Amino acid sequence: MDQPSLFAQFGGRAAVEAVVEDFYVRVEADAHMRPIYPEDLEPGKAKLKLFLEQWLGGEARYSDLYGHPRLRRRHFPFVIDDLAAGRWLRHMREAMTANGVPSGVQAHVFERLGPLAHHMVNAGENVPREALGDARLS
Ligand code: HEM
Repeated sequence: MDQPSLFAQFGGRAAVEAVVEDFYVRVEADAHMRPIYPEDLEPGKAKLKLFLEQWLGGEARYSDLYGHPRLRRRHFPFVIDDLAAGRWLRHMREAMTANGVPSGVQAHVFERLGPLAHHMVNAGENVPREALGDARLS
């Protein structure tokens, strides 16, 4: 029999949505993280749900709407330091644990998510900071 996809092992769309909701509660309560995010957290939250589903092997609804993720570029408007990358990962891990994502699945996920989060660090770099909004990138 085929192995269930990572997305299925994660718990599917319901688990992704619950994890992202919980992650955002943690971000909102984090005095280092909250100021990095815009006042309205809802649009980013919706995008992270779509992206994570796609990244885990679910439907590609993020790219249907926004094109190529180009995640590092999309983060340039936000100044992200090493501490923020570490906190992002910690909140994500805690949100996954709280929502029942099995530890073996998390191990798999964080093998790729760890380097990805550190790749987002852009503090002190001379990068273009203008916002891209909902631009569809190629
Ligand atoms: C390293 C620490 C990180 C910080 C501080 C951070 C912060 C942010 C902020 C402030 C936004 C903008 C939200 C908005 O426009 O409302 C954002 C967007 C986003 N982040 Fe992160 N992020 C980090 C890492 C990551 C990682 C590792 C991923 C991948 C799983 C990710 C996925 C996304 C996605 C998909 C968006 C929406 C992009 C768009 O279409 O505009 N972020 N992030």
